[in-house]
Amino acid sequence: MKKGIFLSLEGPDGSGKSTQIKYILDFFESRGYETVLTREPGGTSIGEKIRDVILDNENSEMDPMTETMLYAASRAQHVAQVIRPALEAGKVVICDRFVDSSIAYQGFGRDLGDCVAYINEYAIMGCVPDITFLMKLAPEEGIGRIGSGEKDRLESEEISFHRKVYEGYEYLERTYPDRIIGIDASRGIEEIKAEIQKQLEKLIEKK
Ligand SMILES: Nc1ncnc2c1ncn2[C@@H]1O[C@H](COP(=O)(O)OP(=O)(O)OP(=O)(O)O)[C@@H](O)[C@H]1O
Ligand SMILES: [Mg+2]
Repeated sequence: MKKGIFLSLEGPDGSGKSTQIKYILDFFESRGYETVLTREPGGTSIGEKIRDVILDNENSEMDPMTETMLYAASRAQHVAQVIRPALEAGKVVICDRFVDSSIAYQGFGRDLGDCVAYINEYAIMGCVPDITFLMKLAPEEGIGRIGSGEKDRLESEEISFHRKVYEGYEYLERTYPDRIIGIDASRGIEEIKAEIQKQLEKLIEKK
Protein backbone atom coordinates (compact mmCIF):
# COMPACT_ATOMS: atom_id res chain seq x y z
CA MET A 1 0.00 0.00 0.00
CA LYS A 2 2.63 2.53 1.14
CA LYS A 3 5.35 3.22 -1.42
CA GLY A 4 6.92 6.51 -0.38
CA ILE A 5 9.10 7.48 2.55
CA PHE A 6 7.60 9.01 5.68
CA LEU A 7 9.98 11.05 7.81
CA SER A 8 9.17 13.14 10.89
CA LEU A 9 11.12 15.62 12.99
CA GLU A 10 10.63 15.97 16.71
CA GLY A 11 12.15 17.88 19.58
CA PRO A 12 11.59 20.89 21.82
CA ASP A 13 10.80 24.36 20.52
CA GLY A 14 13.90 25.96 19.10
CA SER A 15 15.82 22.67 18.79
CA GLY A 16 16.50 23.22 15.07
CA LYS A 17 13.75 21.21 13.36
CA SER A 18 12.87 23.85 10.76
CA THR A 19 16.57 24.57 10.14
CA GLN A 20 17.36 20.92 9.37
CA ILE A 21 14.16 20.29 7.40
CA LYS A 22 15.44 22.65 4.70
CA TYR A 23 18.54 20.48 4.27
CA ILE A 24 16.49 17.28 4.32
CA LEU A 25 14.31 18.66 1.53
CA ASP A 26 17.43 19.57 -0.48
CA PHE A 27 18.81 16.07 0.11
CA PHE A 28 15.80 14.36 -1.44
CA GLU A 29 15.06 16.91 -4.16
CA SER A 30 18.64 16.89 -5.44
CA ARG A 31 18.28 13.12 -5.84
CA GLY A 32 15.11 13.43 -7.87
CA TYR A 33 12.52 12.50 -5.21
CA GLU A 34 9.19 14.26 -5.10
CA THR A 35 8.74 15.74 -1.64
CA VAL A 36 5.88 17.00 0.48
CA LEU A 37 6.70 19.22 3.45
CA THR A 38 4.00 19.49 6.07
CA ARG A 39 3.65 20.23 9.75
CA GLU A 40 1.74 19.20 12.83
CA PRO A 41 -0.86 20.13 13.78
CA GLY A 42 -2.13 21.25 10.45
CA GLY A 43 -1.14 20.71 6.88
CA THR A 44 -4.82 21.03 5.86
CA SER A 45 -7.22 23.96 6.04
CA ILE A 46 -9.36 22.11 8.62
CA GLY A 47 -6.23 21.24 10.58
CA GLU A 48 -4.99 24.83 10.55
CA LYS A 49 -8.31 25.97 12.05
CA ILE A 50 -7.99 23.37 14.78
CA ARG A 51 -4.38 24.49 15.36
CA ASP A 52 -5.55 28.07 15.90
CA VAL A 53 -7.99 26.88 18.59
CA ILE A 54 -5.29 24.80 20.30
CA LEU A 55 -2.62 27.49 20.35
CA ASP A 56 -4.83 30.55 21.07
CA ASN A 57 -3.65 32.14 24.33
CA GLU A 58 -7.28 33.04 25.10
CA ASN A 59 -8.16 29.35 25.47
CA SER A 60 -6.44 29.05 28.84
CA GLU A 61 -9.35 26.98 30.25
CA MET A 62 -8.80 24.16 27.73
CA ASP A 63 -8.90 20.72 29.34
CA PRO A 64 -5.86 18.51 28.56
CA MET A 65 -8.11 15.80 27.07
CA THR A 66 -9.73 18.38 24.79
CA GLU A 67 -6.27 19.45 23.71
CA THR A 68 -5.29 15.82 23.02
CA MET A 69 -8.41 15.14 20.98
CA LEU A 70 -8.07 18.35 18.99
CA TYR A 71 -4.52 17.41 18.03
CA ALA A 72 -5.70 13.92 17.12
CA ALA A 73 -8.60 15.33 15.07
CA SER A 74 -6.25 17.57 13.16
CA ARG A 75 -3.91 14.63 12.62
CA ALA A 76 -6.69 12.36 11.28
CA GLN A 77 -7.48 14.96 8.63
CA HIS A 78 -3.79 15.46 7.89
CA VAL A 79 -3.18 11.73 7.37
CA ALA A 80 -6.30 11.24 5.25
CA GLN A 81 -5.93 14.33 3.09
CA VAL A 82 -2.17 14.83 2.77
CA ILE A 83 0.13 12.15 4.16
CA ARG A 84 -1.43 8.88 3.03
CA PRO A 85 -2.18 10.01 -0.56
CA ALA A 86 1.38 11.36 -0.94
CA LEU A 87 2.92 8.12 0.35
CA GLU A 88 0.69 6.06 -1.93
CA ALA A 89 1.94 8.19 -4.82
CA GLY A 90 5.52 7.28 -3.85
CA LYS A 91 6.52 10.70 -2.50
CA VAL A 92 8.80 11.58 0.41
CA VAL A 93 6.70 13.13 3.17
CA ILE A 94 8.57 15.26 5.70
CA CYS A 95 6.47 16.14 8.70
CA ASP A 96 7.45 18.80 11.24
CA ARG A 97 6.13 17.06 14.41
CA PHE A 98 3.77 14.05 14.44
CA VAL A 99 2.34 11.54 16.97
CA ASP A 100 5.46 11.61 19.16
CA SER A 101 4.73 15.26 19.95
CA SER A 102 1.30 14.30 21.32
CA ILE A 103 2.78 11.55 23.46
CA ALA A 104 5.49 13.89 24.77
CA TYR A 105 3.35 17.04 25.28
CA GLN A 106 0.00 15.58 26.34
CA GLY A 107 1.03 12.12 27.57
CA PHE A 108 4.03 13.34 29.61
CA GLY A 109 3.72 17.15 29.77
CA ARG A 110 0.00 17.05 30.70
CA ASP A 111 0.28 13.70 32.54
CA LEU A 112 -2.39 11.95 30.47
CA GLY A 113 -0.28 8.83 30.01
CA ASP A 114 -1.01 5.94 27.66
CA CYS A 115 -4.43 7.06 26.44
CA VAL A 116 -2.70 9.56 24.14
CA ALA A 117 -1.12 6.78 22.12
CA TYR A 118 -4.42 4.87 21.94
CA ILE A 119 -6.39 7.90 20.77
CA ASN A 120 -3.80 8.57 18.11
CA GLU A 121 -3.89 5.02 16.79
CA TYR A 122 -7.35 5.87 15.45
CA ALA A 123 -6.10 9.13 14.02
CA ILE A 124 -3.24 7.61 12.02
CA MET A 125 -4.57 4.12 11.21
CA GLY A 126 -1.14 2.56 10.79
CA CYS A 127 0.52 5.52 9.13
CA VAL A 128 3.74 5.49 11.20
CA PRO A 129 6.92 7.29 10.09
CA ASP A 130 9.73 5.20 8.61
CA ILE A 131 12.23 7.36 10.43
CA THR A 132 12.06 10.11 13.04
CA PHE A 133 14.85 12.51 13.88
CA LEU A 134 14.63 13.60 17.51
CA MET A 135 16.48 16.87 17.99
CA LYS A 136 17.89 16.50 21.50
CA LEU A 137 18.40 19.83 23.19
CA ALA A 138 17.65 20.83 26.77
CA PRO A 139 14.37 22.77 26.67
CA GLU A 140 16.03 25.75 28.38
CA GLU A 141 18.49 25.99 25.50
CA GLY A 142 15.79 25.79 22.86
CA ILE A 143 13.82 28.53 24.55
CA GLY A 144 17.02 30.59 24.70
CA ARG A 145 17.49 30.21 20.93
CA ILE A 146 13.98 31.38 20.13
CA GLY A 147 14.36 34.54 22.22
CA SER A 148 11.63 36.61 23.77
CA GLY A 149 9.15 36.98 20.90
CA GLU A 150 5.42 36.36 21.23
CA LYS A 151 4.69 32.85 22.52
CA ASP A 152 1.70 30.59 21.83
CA ARG A 153 -0.28 28.77 24.54
CA LEU A 154 2.07 25.77 24.74
CA GLU A 155 5.29 27.74 24.40
CA SER A 156 4.12 29.89 27.32
CA GLU A 157 4.03 26.91 29.69
CA GLU A 158 6.51 26.93 32.55
CA ILE A 159 9.86 25.17 32.34
CA SER A 160 8.73 22.21 34.50
CA PHE A 161 6.19 21.37 31.75
CA HIS A 162 8.88 21.48 29.07
CA ARG A 163 11.14 19.24 31.17
CA LYS A 164 8.39 16.61 31.42
CA VAL A 165 7.90 16.84 27.66
CA TYR A 166 11.60 16.23 27.19
CA GLU A 167 11.45 13.15 29.44
CA GLY A 168 8.65 11.93 27.19
CA TYR A 169 10.87 12.28 24.16
CA GLU A 170 13.63 10.33 25.93
CA TYR A 171 11.12 7.60 26.77
CA LEU A 172 10.06 7.40 23.12
CA GLU A 173 13.67 7.23 21.94
CA ARG A 174 14.29 4.27 24.28
CA THR A 175 11.04 2.55 23.31
CA TYR A 176 11.33 2.84 19.51
CA PRO A 177 15.08 2.59 18.82
CA ASP A 178 14.53 1.24 15.28
CA ARG A 179 12.51 4.26 14.22
CA ILE A 180 13.68 7.18 16.34
CA ILE A 181 17.19 8.52 15.83
CA GLY A 182 18.36 10.85 18.57
CA ILE A 183 20.45 13.74 17.27
CA ASP A 184 22.62 15.80 19.62
CA ALA A 185 21.18 19.19 18.66
CA SER A 186 23.48 21.21 20.88
CA ARG A 187 26.15 21.13 18.15
CA GLY A 188 26.60 23.45 15.19
CA ILE A 189 24.15 23.44 12.28
CA GLU A 190 26.66 21.97 9.79
CA GLU A 191 27.68 19.10 12.05
CA ILE A 192 24.05 18.14 12.65
CA LYS A 193 23.30 18.40 8.93
CA ALA A 194 26.19 16.00 8.14
CA GLU A 195 24.95 13.41 10.66
CA ILE A 196 21.39 13.57 9.34
CA GLN A 197 22.64 13.19 5.74
CA LYS A 198 24.53 10.05 6.73
CA GLN A 199 21.34 8.60 8.19
CA LEU A 200 19.39 9.54 5.06
CA GLU A 201 21.96 7.81 2.82
CA LYS A 202 21.44 4.64 4.87
CA LEU A 203 17.67 4.99 4.63
CA ILE A 204 17.54 5.29 0.84
CA GLU A 205 19.98 2.38 0.45
CA LYS A 206 17.59 0.16 2.42
CA LYS A 207 14.51 1.28 0.44
N1 LIG B 1 22.55 23.95 15.71
C1 LIG B 1 22.19 25.19 16.01
N2 LIG B 1 22.94 25.95 16.79
C2 LIG B 1 22.57 27.22 17.11
N3 LIG B 1 21.44 27.81 16.69
C3 LIG B 1 20.63 27.08 15.90
C4 LIG B 1 20.96 25.75 15.52
N4 LIG B 1 19.95 25.27 14.74
C5 LIG B 1 19.05 26.26 14.64
N5 LIG B 1 19.44 27.36 15.32
C6 LIG B 1 18.72 28.64 15.48
O1 LIG B 1 17.81 28.46 16.56
C7 LIG B 1 16.55 29.07 16.27
C8 LIG B 1 15.46 28.01 16.29
O2 LIG B 1 15.69 27.06 15.24
P1 LIG B 1 14.49 26.40 14.44
O3 LIG B 1 13.49 27.41 14.06
O4 LIG B 1 15.09 25.57 13.35
O5 LIG B 1 13.91 25.45 15.58
P2 LIG B 1 12.53 24.64 15.60
O6 LIG B 1 12.86 23.34 16.26
O7 LIG B 1 11.96 24.58 14.23
O8 LIG B 1 11.64 25.51 16.57
P3 LIG B 1 10.01 25.53 16.68
O9 LIG B 1 9.64 24.28 17.42
O10 LIG B 1 9.76 26.75 17.49
O11 LIG B 1 9.46 25.57 15.29
C9 LIG B 1 16.72 29.75 14.91
O12 LIG B 1 17.06 31.08 15.12
C10 LIG B 1 17.88 28.98 14.27
O13 LIG B 1 18.60 29.77 13.35
MG1 LIG C 1 10.07 25.11 13.49
